[in-house]
Amino acid sequence: MITLALSKGRIFEETLPLLRSAGIEVLEDPEKSRKLILATNQADVRVLVVRATDVPTYVQYGGADLGITGKDMLLEHGSDGLYQPLDLQIAKCRISVAVRADFDYASAVRQGSRLKVATKYVAIAREFFATKGVHVDLIKLYGSMELAPLVGLADAIVDLVSTGNTLKANHLVEVEHIMDISSRLVVNQAALKLKQVPIRRIIDAFAKAIDDCHSGSMDCGSSPQ
Ligand code: PRP
Repeated sequence: MITLALSKGRIFEETLPLLRSAGIEVLEDPEKSRKLILATNQADVRVLVVRATDVPTYVQYGGADLGITGKDMLLEHGSDGLYQPLDLQIAKCRISVAVRADFDYASAVRQGSRLKVATKYVAIAREFFATKGVHVDLIKLYGSMELAPLVGLADAIVDLVSTGNTLKANHLVEVEHIMDISSRLVVNQAALKLKQVPIRRIIDAFAKAIDDCHSGSMDCGSSPQ
């Protein structure tokens, strides 16, 4: 049995064409089903539906053989013991610093003010501001970061930006681009040895699908960045 850990939402949707190119069809829609283990058209391949933050953990400890997770999750939660053979170039977005449109970020940084920064990416934010030499107080949140500057909880946020619509709708502006993000295939090292043939087949099919997307011979949908 090959077990693949995926999170619901964009990663799941954008993984389906890659799976299809490996001959794998997921038989249920995780948005409609409450099931956490989904069967596929291949009796020996199943999909686990897990929280995005938990994908590396499932794969690291062998609860899943493979997983698909954002570079943001790997940087924030660590990637110990994970083989990362492919950048799947799906679910592309960026991690940015954003502030209220009326907040003068440049002069706050220039004057050496201590910034209050709300984020769920505490490790990424700490590293970024330390490299810039900016003093920050980090406030850990688990979602809806955009709210924090609007109610005075923080001066700035560090969050994912894809279309930019959420920032715009909340009158926030991007002031720093920290890094580009996309999803990675991660593989349990022991599973790679024990189930080498079927796992290699999936890795190779994904690699070919990515090439086909780039060459235009496969319709992979659009990924705003
Ligand atoms: C992410 C991110 C932003 C939004 C950005 O949230 O935290 O809120 O997407 O997308 P946009 O630039 O296209 O508007 P997500 O929907 O993944 O949920 P989350 O708050 O649980 O992270």
